[in-house]
Amino acid sequence: CRVAILISGRGSNMASLIEATQAADFPAEIALVLSNRPDAEGLERAKAAGIATLAIDHKAFPDRESFDRALDAALNEHDIAFICLAGFMRVLSDWFVERWAGRMINIHPSLLPLYRGTQTHRRALADGVLVHGCTVHFVVPELDAGPIIAQAVVPVVPGDTGESLAARVIVQEHRLYPQALRMICDGTARLENGRVVFSRGW
Ligand code: GRF
Repeated sequence: CRVAILISGRGSNMASLIEATQAADFPAEIALVLSNRPDAEGLERAKAAGIATLAIDHKAFPDRESFDRALDAALNEHDIAFICLAGFMRVLSDWFVERWAGRMINIHPSLLPLYRGTQTHRRALADGVLVHGCTVHFVVPELDAGPIIAQAVVPVVPGDTGESLAARVIVQEHRLYPQALRMICDGTARLENGRVVFSRGW
């Protein structure tokens, strides 16, 4: 399965996906890394790993829809079958999301459905929760909603700051995202009537 990773920034989740998919038995390959920001750090990391990269600057387009159409065209040109969003900071139009329905997943730094949107670690600390974490889910038009594929829990510890909590969560993100992609690509987890069902061990 030819996978594209969409990024906007440093691309640490992208790097963990690239590394995991290089294993001989991984049921998917990263065929393209695409960024909406030409200066995204992750693009250099992807190139260094020998992956095809592309920057499509959203600022060059008059509206969201025309950017999304260019994105879709580029993905089709590269024969992409599946998308992993990894720190991609553009909201995608309903048109694009529906086109890729069931073929696009995202990682979010909270235990969804808690803390959709940004500043998740700071908001979790402000609420005094004792556990936090990350979620991999299918993308639907509603932001950070969509069927859940995998979650990892991390403890909140006394004295935590947004940064220290983020650092603990990102370690789990790097473990969780390749695991979730593997489960989707080998059929262990699949979408059925808007829910994820697991065929082995669940
Ligand atoms: C991660 O925390 C991810 O969950 C969120 O954005 C951040 C991206 O980090 N969606 P990186 O670019 O993968 O390092």
